[in-house]
Amino acid sequence: MRNALRFSAILIGALGVLTWIAYSVLARTTRDWFEADVALRAQLVVGTARQSLLAHFHQSDSGALHAQLQDISRDQRIMAAAAWAEDGSTIAATDGYPARFSCANVVREIRRTPAKALAAGNGAWLKRTELPGGQVHVAAISLLDGSHALGRIVLIHDLSFALRREGKARNLLLVAFGVLALAASIVTMVAARLARRDWTAELRRILRGDEARPEYLPLLRDVRALVQRLSSEQEQEQRGGHWTPARLKATLSQHLRGERVVIVANREPYIHEHTAEGTVRVQQPASGLVTALEPVMRACSGVWVAHGSGSADRETADANGRIKVPPAEESYVVRRLWLSEAEEQGYYYGFSNEGLWPLCHLADARPTFRAEDFEHYRTVNRRFADAVCAEVDSDDPIVLVQDYHFALAPKMIRERLPRATIISFWHIPWPNSERFGICPWREELLDGMLGSSIIGFHTQLHCNNFFDAVDSYLEARIDRERNAVVQSGRATLVRPYPISTEWPVHWLDKLPSVEECRRGVLEALALPPDTLLGVGVDRLDYTKGIEERLLAVERLLERHPALRGRFVFVQLAAPSRTKIERYRELNEAVERTAARINARYADGPYEPVRLLCTHHEPPSVFRYYRAADVCYVSSLHDGMNLVAKEFVAARTDEQGVLVLSQFTGAARELTEALIVNPYDLDQASDALAAAVQMPKDEQRERMRSMRGLVAEYNVYRWAGRMLVDAAQLRRRERLTGRLARFGMRALGAQ
Ligand code: G6P
Repeated sequence: MRNALRFSAILIGALGVLTWIAYSVLARTTRDWFEADVALRAQLVVGTARQSLLAHFHQSDSGALHAQLQDISRDQRIMAAAAWAEDGSTIAATDGYPARFSCANVVREIRRTPAKALAAGNGAWLKRTELPGGQVHVAAISLLDGSHALGRIVLIHDLSFALRREGKARNLLLVAFGVLALAASIVTMVAARLARRDWTAELRRILRGDEARPEYLPLLRDVRALVQRLSSEQEQEQRGGHWTPARLKATLSQHLRGERVVIVANREPYIHEHTAEGTVRVQQPASGLVTALEPVMRACSGVWVAHGSGSADRETADANGRIKVPPAEESYVVRRLWLSEAEEQGYYYGFSNEGLWPLCHLADARPTFRAEDFEHYRTVNRRFADAVCAEVDSDDPIVLVQDYHFALAPKMIRERLPRATIISFWHIPWPNSERFGICPWREELLDGMLGSSIIGFHTQLHCNNFFDAVDSYLEARIDRERNAVVQSGRATLVRPYPISTEWPVHWLDKLPSVEECRRGVLEALALPPDTLLGVGVDRLDYTKGIEERLLAVERLLERHPALRGRFVFVQLAAPSRTKIERYRELNEAVERTAARINARYADGPYEPVRLLCTHHEPPSVFRYYRAADVCYVSSLHDGMNLVAKEFVAARTDEQGVLVLSQFTGAARELTEALIVNPYDLDQASDALAAAVQMPKDEQRERMRSMRGLVAEYNVYRWAGRMLVDAAQLRRRERLTGRLARFGMRALGAQ
């Protein structure tokens, strides 16, 4: 309908211009005709009165001439008349004859007029001109006696009648234009409506397959499937409801037709380790990535390609490094890749964690870039890409490439499997383009990532930073409307997909109630029941702001003496990347700080800080979440931070307060937390004080709202949305490919 409106506007405009041109031509032509008529008329008048005029001239009877001219000018259109002798003197003129047309003036004009412009043969001079009262026509006609000219008769005609007629014609044309424009718009609208109805009916008929030609059928099948899927996806979105493992599974089989998902992530979800007792123990690593993706894989099945880093990993996997997990459930496969010590050092510790990790986090650590590390990074990326290609079961698989360990892999996979749908997710922040620019291999990293079909970040800000980096360092077009980077005609979509936890968290199934968990934790720590308990859960990483957190606890006790002896902060700190100097320094600094604060406020058995630097399995972590009055997440820079969301998920009692750093992605979603700047110790300690004193009703209100959000925006939704986007992209690409091939065939047939 909008097109029809646009079309009518153009039509009316064109009609307007045409009417205006027609009017101008018409006005000029009719004016010329009127003028010619008037000139003819003047000559006729003089011709008719010629004999008596000649007689009056011969007798030099000016009185009789005056009377005759008065008689002539009685004609409605003749304003004035005059008779001149050949010498230029006026013999007679009607009353009120205009002085402008005196003999002298007119003769001057006649002399200026080229001879051929004078009326042919009869010595008439004719001219249209203006008088103050309007337009007039002046005719000066020679009065001939045989071939001898006696003088001239001047007749001045009033032309206002011509202007009046012009005006009438213009009004008529305007009315005609109005009627035409109205008629054109009505006809256009009606035609558009009818055509649309016909077209829709035609399309419906074709989609039903009633009248399709056989060669169109495969194409129609695809169009029909696409239409149905798009509408069912829309319906599902509109129907809303929470995303569950079942819905994710159904989405996968509906949209990806059972094709399995292959994940590439450095960290494996289950690590087998030898224990001191000579047994093998399975560990779930402390990794936000694993926390998020493990439930997704349990729901979808498929293969997770990862570094086999556990001491008992080889002996628990088969000859191809494959093992079914989770233990006893076996719903998907982990494919372990074995790295040499040099590879692990260069690729994992070196380029990934001493280069990219500090590059992407604003947390007071300088990146170190070594060419040999990057060489290992490139080799290991290639090895993982090869492993992916060995695991897929079609030439257009769905591959999920995870995190900063694999910036180069998407392009390597794309080279081997051009039709693959590759979704890369960057779990950590993406820095601004100036900072990213300090990496010596910035172009190669960006280029590698753009092998992906979709690149996901937690926030729009990180997407924008990525676009800026591409803009600054690559020859590629940024399509801001589609949120895509286009390189050599291929588009990579860049979108925010904020990650989350599973909902409900399966670990809670086997956990005792909140009260029991609290009782158990306080007992284990030998703390009295009325303890105000704060909890922190992290890997020992300098981006987590653990030192700042302990300093905020110290400031709290300093400023609120009543809390001394009652407030205890338990920090669960999983050792991480301990081969890197900066991490070892952090470990020492945290221990030193905790010891100093404890020394300052210790009172008998009371110690305000409990530092538990060891790995805790998820059930143990969830007990602490449940036991806590307050959970403090103080990251200095964090892509999302799932500890915040896990704490909320754990609190089925709708109690407990979350104090959350504003520098986490989670702070954008969990706005009912007490949001703080972890560098501002006064503000952070005020928030901790407010948290431990917060009335239960307010706690409930805040927690209920955050739980609602985490329940809805859970990890199944995160994965579901990415997979649905990928499936849509893939269908569109397939359809476009088929349409292109079909078009080529049609052209070839012509
Ligand atoms: C972050 C990264 C993950 C990583 C995790 C643990 O969350 O985004 O990719 O797995 O830290 O680090 P680690 O080096 O032990 O795998």
